[in-house]
Amino acid sequence: MSERPKVFVTRVIPDEGLAAVRAVCEMDLWTDELPPPRDELLRRVAGRDGVLTLLTDRVDGVFLDAAGPGLKVVSNYAVGFDNIDVAECARRGVAVGNTPGVLTETTADLAFALLMAAARRLPEGDRYVRAGQWRTWGPMLLLGPDVHGATIGIVGFGRIGQAVARRAQGFGMEILYHDLHRVPDEVAEPLGATFLPLEDLLPRCDYVSIHVNLSEETRGLIKAETLAWMKPTAVLVNTSRGPVIDHRALADALRHGVIAAAALDVTDPEPIPMDDPLVGMDNCLIVPHIASASRATRGKMAAMAAANLLAGVRREPLPTPVHPPG
Ligand code: GLV
Ligand code: GLV
Repeated sequence: MSERPKVFVTRVIPDEGLAAVRAVCEMDLWTDELPPPRDELLRRVAGRDGVLTLLTDRVDGVFLDAAGPGLKVVSNYAVGFDNIDVAECARRGVAVGNTPGVLTETTADLAFALLMAAARRLPEGDRYVRAGQWRTWGPMLLLGPDVHGATIGIVGFGRIGQAVARRAQGFGMEILYHDLHRVPDEVAEPLGATFLPLEDLLPRCDYVSIHVNLSEETRGLIKAETLAWMKPTAVLVNTSRGPVIDHRALADALRHGVIAAAALDVTDPEPIPMDDPLVGMDNCLIVPHIASASRATRGKMAAMAAANLLAGVRREPLPTPVHPPG
């Protein structure tokens, strides 16, 4: 029995993944609602063959030192992997996996839900009803912009950005995109999506939805200067990573009407502190990083993260590896 691989799983994930890990490995499972504190994480990874991590766990040199030379794989239960120093893992021969593909459509659903909710002021309307303020049908009550026929700018045109474009097509929107890399015409054309540099795209958009990975190139991409390029009527949606937007600049822009509204699934930091100015703003909708949170998708992510973990502890190629930059 002693050759059963030893793994640490840093949170309870759906059984679609946990059962397979339990069947094969000697599994230590962190069962709290909150992530393991740093010192606990470092203690628990010691001597493990594999770790199944969440985006709330930082995997860096200190983590890898604590785990020791036996560590073979870090399997992240997320498509994003900015919590992991992938280059350092590669240097030490530790494989890294993520969960791409399975959450694309679910995340695009939420991005579109946020866009529509912010445009049509659903949270404000809900608060209005619950506060007992609904007294009659009002000609001027809670007016907002149309979604159909408007122009959307999709910043980051990978799998998720393209899935948002398909939804926007159904609403008859004009679709513009920006990405560090232009996508091939045979991808962009069926989506009716036109590439523009950011400074040309932002001034034209009624809606801007962010779908980039967090990297040194995208950190602070949306800042005072870029917000100023946007329309005063624009709605900004972020389901990528919080630090892509400079939150202080966003709060200033929302306060002074530089843009009309924002809808955020991700913040910087997470959770957002309750004294953050954005929390008190009627034109800022915030939900707690739930873009991939459908039952089916979280099950598929669990199965995928488990498959990466089990391949990694056997030193087999991961089904969905993350490759180091460069
Ligand atoms: C969630 O944000 C993910 O990266 O999967
Ligand atoms: C990741 O960013 C994706 O597009 O799936």
